[in-house]
Amino acid sequence: MGRVQDKVAVITGAAKGLGAAIALRLAEEGANLVLGDIDADGLSTSASNAKAAGSDVETLVGDVTEEGPAAALVGRAVDRFGQIDILVNNVGGSRNSKIWEMPVEDWDHTVKLNLRGTFLCTRAAAPHMMGKRYGKIICLSSGAREGTPWTAFYQGGSAYSACKAGVHGFMRDVALELAEYNINVNAVGPGPIDTERAGAVLRKMNETVEYSPNHMTPLGRLGEPREVADAVLFLASDEASYISGHTLAVAGGR
Ligand SMILES: NC(=O)c1ccc[n+]([C@@H]2O[C@H](COP(=O)([O-])OP(=O)(O)OC[C@H]3O[C@@H](n4cnc5c(N)ncnc54)[C@H](O)[C@@H]3O)[C@@H](O)[C@H]2O)c1
Repeated sequence: MGRVQDKVAVITGAAKGLGAAIALRLAEEGANLVLGDIDADGLSTSASNAKAAGSDVETLVGDVTEEGPAAALVGRAVDRFGQIDILVNNVGGSRNSKIWEMPVEDWDHTVKLNLRGTFLCTRAAAPHMMGKRYGKIICLSSGAREGTPWTAFYQGGSAYSACKAGVHGFMRDVALELAEYNINVNAVGPGPIDTERAGAVLRKMNETVEYSPNHMTPLGRLGEPREVADAVLFLASDEASYISGHTLAVAGGR
C-alpha cells in the first residue's frame, strides 16, 4: 500500500519543476492524478512518468488563474474518478524588479499567478471535499514569505514575497473554515530549489554574487525538487492528519 493509495490528487502547474516532481511522488505512492498546466507537451511528459509509476492520469491544458479552467480541472477529477481527495495549488512565479522600477503590470501578473489560481481551485474543490468530509489542500508558499534575501539584493522580489505571505494567510483562514469538515489545509515554503527554471538563476548566483543562496542557506546547497515533493506527500497523507494551518519550510534551515 502506498502512502496515498487510491486517493485522487489534482495538481496545478504539473508540466515542469516542482509540480512535475510532486506528481511523480504522489503517483509512486499510489495516487491517481489530474494534472493541469498551460504547457501541453510538458504535461504529457509528466503524465507518462506518472503512468509508468502505476498511476491513472488525466490531463487538462488551461490557465488556472481563470475561473473556467480552474473549475474544469476540479470537475475532471470528479467526472473521471468520482472524487477529489488532494489538491496541490502549485502554480506560482514572479516578475522581479526593484520597487522603484516595478511596472504595475508586473505587480498585477505576480499577484494573479500566485493568488488567483490558488483561490479559484480551492473554491472549486472545497464543496466536493466537504461533501465527503475528507480532503487535503496543499499550497505552494515560499521562504520568500518572510523576504527572500538574494532576490531582494539583486532583482527585487517584493511582489513575490507579498504574494507568498498572502498564500500563507489564505491557507490559514481556509484551514479554519474547513476544519469542521475534516479537511486539512497546509502549505510548503520551499527555499532555493534546483528546478529547470529557478535552478539556472540560483546556480549562477552561487558562482557570481556574495549573498548567494548557498552562502545564506544553513545547509549550504540548493534543494532538490524531490525534497519538496516529499514534504507535499507527507501533508497529503494521513500521516499529517492532525496538522492544519501550517506552512512547512523546506528551505535548508534558517
Ligand atoms: N523553484 C523554487 O526554487 C521555488 C522556491 C519557492 C517556491 N516555489 C514555488 O513553487 C511553485 C512551483 O515553482 P517551480 O519553480 O516549479 O515553477 P516553474 O515555473 O518551473 O513551473 C511552473 C509550472 O506552472 C505552469 N504554469 C504557469 N502559469 C500557469 C497558469 N496560469 N495555469 C496553469 N499552469 C501554469 C508552467 O507552465 C510550469 O509548468 C511556485 O508556486 C513557486 O512560486 C518555487
